[in-house]
Amino acid sequence: MEKGKRLYEGKAKILFETNDPDLLIQRFKDDATAFDGIKKGTIIGKGIANNTISAYLFELLAKDGIKSHFEKKLSDIEMVIKNVEIIPVEVVIRNVSTGSLCKRYGIKEGIAFKKPIVEFYYKDDALHDPLMNEDHIFGLEIAGTEEIAEMRQQALKINEILQRFFNSIDVTLIDLKLEFGRFKGKVLLADEISPDTCRFWEKGTNRKLDKDRFRHDLGDVEKTYKEMMKRIVGD
Ligand code: TMP
Ligand code: ASP
Repeated sequence: MEKGKRLYEGKAKILFETNDPDLLIQRFKDDATAFDGIKKGTIIGKGIANNTISAYLFELLAKDGIKSHFEKKLSDIEMVIKNVEIIPVEVVIRNVSTGSLCKRYGIKEGIAFKKPIVEFYYKDDALHDPLMNEDHIFGLEIAGTEEIAEMRQQALKINEILQRFFNSIDVTLIDLKLEFGRFKGKVLLADEISPDTCRFWEKGTNRKLDKDRFRHDLGDVEKTYKEMMKRIVGD
């Protein structure tokens, strides 16, 4: 497969065309941003970690029937993906309270919810990704009723599968953000699943093993991405 021109560059990834119109190459960068790009930095080895972790988790999910845009790993920092049309909605699933939910509702961190909370955010940096409900998504013609139902259902199933997996490596999946895309009439899981897009706490100690170490200057950022890569894929 030939790599074509750069199609899109985001904060953490670059997409390249290929000679097959159905396929793209997704390259993971070491660049890190937080708080809508206000905080900027570089996390050496993040590209390798997030590509390796995402590829592993997409394959794990596929074994349980979750279809994604993932085709194959191409290199340390690149994967081949299906050329999906991203639905501009960030689906967040929360198992334990932390982050923006604690701020919004004035509750303390670390409360385990009786069932996962599903939230939708409009993926628009200029508007700071506002929270929205299913009626907004339908009313603003961002997605159809079946697509919305599909995103919610798949997100909950993905959360269940990943919770089981992370429990097995002594990590609690606190929350995660998913994105979906349209491809030949189907809604597929897209984007990435990594320490950038999930929150992981070590069981027993509640040590944070994700991008919160960068967001809140907790130290050991590079070491933590490497550690999560090793914990997930094994040595
Ligand atoms: P939040 O508590 O800051 O709203 O984050 C919820 C989840 O979404 C958490 O796992 C981190 C992830 N996330 C992203 O993937 N991208 C983002 O831009 C933000 C703000 C959060
Ligand atoms: N990626 C987001 C940004 O830079 C924020 C985050 O992950 O906290 O805006």
